[in-house]
Amino acid sequence: MNLEPIGVLRSSAVFLGALPRQPQAGEGVVELVPGRHLDHAVHDLPGFSRIWLIWWFHRSKGEWRPKVLPPRSRCGRKGVLATRSPHRPNPLGISAVPLLRVEGLRLWIGAHDLVDGTPILDIKPYLPRYDSFPNEREGWLAQVEAGSWQVELGPVVQGLELAERVRAILAEDPLPHRARRIHAMPDGRLRLGIGFWRFFYRIEGARVLVESALFKGLKVD
Ligand SMILES: C[S@@+](CC[C@H](N)C(=O)[O-])C[C@H]1O[C@@H](n2cnc3c(N)ncnc32)[C@H](O)[C@@H]1O
Repeated sequence: MNLEPIGVLRSSAVFLGALPRQPQAGEGVVELVPGRHLDHAVHDLPGFSRIWLIWWFHRSKGEWRPKVLPPRSRCGRKGVLATRSPHRPNPLGISAVPLLRVEGLRLWIGAHDLVDGTPILDIKPYLPRYDSFPNEREGWLAQVEAGSWQVELGPVVQGLELAERVRAILAEDPLPHRARRIHAMPDGRLRLGIGFWRFFYRIEGARVLVESALFKGLKVD
C-alpha cells in the first residue's frame, strides 16, 4: 500500500492539548499539494456543506497499545479500537468538518480537531443520508454522563486564550484522572495540565474554582 498525503492542515492550533477531542472549535485551511491536478479533483465539492477528512496522527509518538485509558473513561482501560485514541495500530484520524469555501488548492474548514501541520490523506463529501445514524448504541461512552459541575474561572484565568478549553475539560469532570492530566495536590487543591500550562483549582460542592495558573513553571498574573 502506498499512501501519500494530498495536503496539509493549516490552523492556529499548534499544540495538541488545546484542541477539542472531536471537531468542535476553530477554523483552518486544507492546503492541497500542487502539481497533482487536485484543483480539478475538488470540483463540485463546494456543493457539500460538510466533508470527511481522513488524516494521519503525525504527532502521536511511541508504540500503540491494545488497551488505552480514554480521557472520558470512568471505569478503566478500553480496547483501542473501541476508542478514538490517537495511538492506534494505523494512526488514522477521521473528522467530519464544515466546508466553508474552496479557492483553488485551498479548502477553508470550520470547527475541527486537527493540529497545524497534520497530513491529509483523503477528502470525501459527508452524506447525511448515509453517514448519520443518531440512534445507534454508543458502547462505553453511554455510561459517561455529562457532569453538573459549575466551573468558575478567576480573573487571571478568564483572560487566557485557553480559558474556554479549561472550562470545558473541568465541566466534564474535575476529579483526578491520569490521562486527563488532573492530579490531586498534597495541599488539597487539584492541578490540571494542558501543554506547558498548569491550572490550580478547588472543588466546593458542585463548584469548581479555578484560581491560578503557571506557564512553564512561572506564575501568570
Ligand atoms: C481524540 S482524537 C479524534 C480525532 C478524529 N476526530 C477521530 O475520531 O479519528 C482528537 C485529538 O487528537 C489530537 N491530534 C490532533 N491532530 C493530531 C495529530 N496530527 N497528531 C497527533 N494527535 C493529534 C488532538 O489532541 C485532538 O484533541
